[in-house]
Amino acid sequence: MTLNIITIDGPSGSGKGTVSLQLASKLGWHMLDSGALYRVLGLAAQRHGIAFNEEQKITQLARNLDIQFLIDDTTGEVEPIFEGENLSPYIRTDEAGQAASQVAVIESVREALLERQRNFYQSPGLVADGRDMGTIVFPEAPVKIFLTASAECRAERRYKQLKNKGADANMRALLDSIKTRDERDRTRLVAPLVPARGAFVVDSSHLTIPQVLTQVLEFAAKSLPEIGIG
Ligand code: DC
Repeated sequence: MTLNIITIDGPSGSGKGTVSLQLASKLGWHMLDSGALYRVLGLAAQRHGIAFNEEQKITQLARNLDIQFLIDDTTGEVEPIFEGENLSPYIRTDEAGQAASQVAVIESVREALLERQRNFYQSPGLVADGRDMGTIVFPEAPVKIFLTASAECRAERRYKQLKNKGADANMRALLDSIKTRDERDRTRLVAPLVPARGAFVVDSSHLTIPQVLTQVLEFAAKSLPEIGIG
């Protein structure tokens, strides 16, 4: 039986979070933001005073991670509740991204999170956003997308996001941070960031979100004609 799963993998800033959310909402499907799991785990390690090289302790934490994802009724945003605390203000920071990327290189941590991610599948379907959704977590997904963009474009997007929020931002530092994280995610031994076999690769550097969404829907409709593209 074919499960209704669309995987969207790619580096941070490629637009995959926004595209995944819009796609899930358009199709009325569920959504897995796997990066949020790794981000919460990275923050949890820091809060418990565990260093990123203490693999056993981090794995133990991953196995027992007390996390729930709730939807805020007013904003519609997903809120990660870790040990009863809403981590929304912290998980999108660059620090959380770097922490996530560091705990994510540990093989036993990835294994510990595997079932939890697979359990996100629910009828009528799932859009799964991450780095290894199409390669490891849902290799049977009928539609796999790899969304990318140049590091410069991604840094610029992040710069604008931060400025719009009135936060401090430094283009050079953002670009360095993106390149460091890309390098770690792409070259790690377990589940490196690579397009899955058969993935539709979209470079969003010069595309708007609606343009990406159109391309993704057109591609998805070839394997899942019932979703339509209207
Ligand atoms: O998508 P994101 O920026 O929220 O992900 C944060 C980090 O988590 C990313 O740099 C690598 C890690 N990650 C991963 O290894 N595998 C995933 N499926 C999702 C995220």
